[in-house]
Amino acid sequence: SSEELDERIRAAKRALDKDLVILGHHYQRDDVIAHSDHRGDSLQLARIAASLDSARYIVFCGVHFMAETADILTASEQIVILPDQNAGCSMADMADDQEVEECWEMITNLYGDSIIPVTYVNSTAAIKSFVGQHGGLTITSSNAEKIFAYALQAKRRILFLPDQHLGRNTAVKFGIPLNEMCVYNPQQMNLEFPYGKGDPRVILWKGHCSVHTKFEPRHVHEVRAKYPGIRVLVHPECMHETVQLADENGSTDFIIKAVRNAPPGTKWAIGTEHNLVNRLKQEHPEQLIVSLNEMICPCLTMNRIDRPHLLWSLDNILTGKPQNIIMVPPDTARWAKAAIDRMLQIS
Ligand code: 13P
Ligand code: SF4
Repeated sequence: SSEELDERIRAAKRALDKDLVILGHHYQRDDVIAHSDHRGDSLQLARIAASLDSARYIVFCGVHFMAETADILTASEQIVILPDQNAGCSMADMADDQEVEECWEMITNLYGDSIIPVTYVNSTAAIKSFVGQHGGLTITSSNAEKIFAYALQAKRRILFLPDQHLGRNTAVKFGIPLNEMCVYNPQQMNLEFPYGKGDPRVILWKGHCSVHTKFEPRHVHEVRAKYPGIRVLVHPECMHETVQLADENGSTDFIIKAVRNAPPGTKWAIGTEHNLVNRLKQEHPEQLIVSLNEMICPCLTMNRIDRPHLLWSLDNILTGKPQNIIMVPPDTARWAKAAIDRMLQIS
């Protein structure tokens, strides 16, 4: 039964005591979040992972790239476990290192050494390593503006991987015109100029989040018609046209704080992952909270982590045979860490 499952997880946690820390991303299911020792967005969890020096086992309830980041930032004797190996991120998988090498060769032929590579943390360790080796750094949605400011001071152009929407939305905040952003298409191996052809300041990788791109401009118009006075709050992984129509946009942490700080009676239509929107709804009954698009599913890969997988992971640790260990090869980890450390210093 459900109670038995919870009790068995609690018992395993008690048995492992200080040897274990469970980290949970805000997009996780409520029944998994209930067992996490720390909950956060990707930047907060990266910082927490870096500060965990006593825990031998870190069970990461999130997606694969987050567990890789935790492995990169923790000591070599610490073991990071992802309860389901299939919990990937479709956006992170849209850029592989071979394709990025090809892109880099093409754009450095065109624009010389005027480019700094920047990768969203939603990317594989191999991409972070590429970026680290080429003097670049990582970015998250909660520090995007700081990192962009740094990158634009360092070089004239940014190669932004792998989410074109976060890249475009952040560049817009810096006043960069849309025609000074182009999109690298890895299938065609060419540059596309969807908003007209200027001298590119930002070269966006053609990747996207399959969850956040489902919030469309028409949903903003519909929700405003249905709930007069409603505030529309979206994650910057949504497309530019949606973000422009919204009242506010920001990272997971920004969204949580915006709701937390709003007066009772505030009405929100939120464009981000459903588990988080539903949790905000439960935690703030004094406000009206709806999803900007009620028809979409939660992030399917985040949702792969459930209590049976969590319990299975804990039981494996207890029997001395931990499974699903996420281990980034040392060479990759060294350069990826350089990219992450640069970000952590600046943000
Ligand atoms: P945050 O950086 O806001 O935690 O977002 C992670 C993510 O996967 C967004 O889709
Ligand atoms: Fe990846 Fe989108 Fe899921 Fe975030 S919500 S983990 S970016 S697929």
